[in-house]
Amino acid sequence: MKNNLFCRILADAQKSSSAVAAINILNHLTVCAVVKAAEQAGRPVILQPSVGTVRRYGVEALYHMINVSKRNARVPVALHLDHCMDIALAKACIRTGWDSVMVDFSALPFEENVARTREVVLYAHRYGVAVEGEIGIIAGVEDGIVQDAACPASFVETVAYVEQTGIDAVAPAIGTAHGLYTGIPKLNFTLVRELGRRYVPVVVHGGTGLPKEGFLKLIQCGAAKINISTALKQVYLGAARKALAEESIAPLTFDQAVEAACMSAMEAFIRLFA
Ligand code: 13P
Repeated sequence: MKNNLFCRILADAQKSSSAVAAINILNHLTVCAVVKAAEQAGRPVILQPSVGTVRRYGVEALYHMINVSKRNARVPVALHLDHCMDIALAKACIRTGWDSVMVDFSALPFEENVARTREVVLYAHRYGVAVEGEIGIIAGVEDGIVQDAACPASFVETVAYVEQTGIDAVAPAIGTAHGLYTGIPKLNFTLVRELGRRYVPVVVHGGTGLPKEGFLKLIQCGAAKINISTALKQVYLGAARKALAEESIAPLTFDQAVEAACMSAMEAFIRLFA
């Protein structure tokens, strides 16, 4: 998959011992904010709408809206589908020309997870599209789906999952959680280090709320892609509330204020992972 943009971005991150930020954009405004943030930082970025966002706008409409920004960007920008359990939807993204998809059958027994992931991999690779898969269960709320209990991934099962599915990037459950942390997360740095850069690139989910040192250690251990979703939503809504509190604000001024806040917050993550 040397010619696939998602794979190239992750391979470059591995080579330079850095990680790429993968951000769950919500609409056109956040696409512009994240692409500008990446350009400011001079770093590639992955735009990864959640399934809810894809259903809201449609596979094709989102593809075309983002493709304009991708084409005009001064840095590499990949379009990736996040956490998809719907094989038909993942295949629609693949046919439409998205760079990559993440399928998540991690709540199913190992053999079932492998079989479904493998089905998407075989389909995606025919179109030159990359696939990320999850092993072990990452706790928290993502796209309205609640996973109460985390189920940590082991080295042996992660390697078996990678080898049996042929995926291009792996998201093992390492103790991070989607959404906000209630305590200090206990991260399995050992697993990230063991997987390191020897297998396919390692993806960290649940980036929001991790401390700076946690990010830096994960990258040092070999993490190549770090997902950020909740932080963008929080900044977006916070900036929107602030802008609306102004006596009379024009819609375009409102958009600019929200975009600027999102851009600066996301630029900080992109630069931190560099
Ligand atoms: P956060 O919402 O915790 O940033 O997690 C994002 C994520 O992992 C999306 O898949």
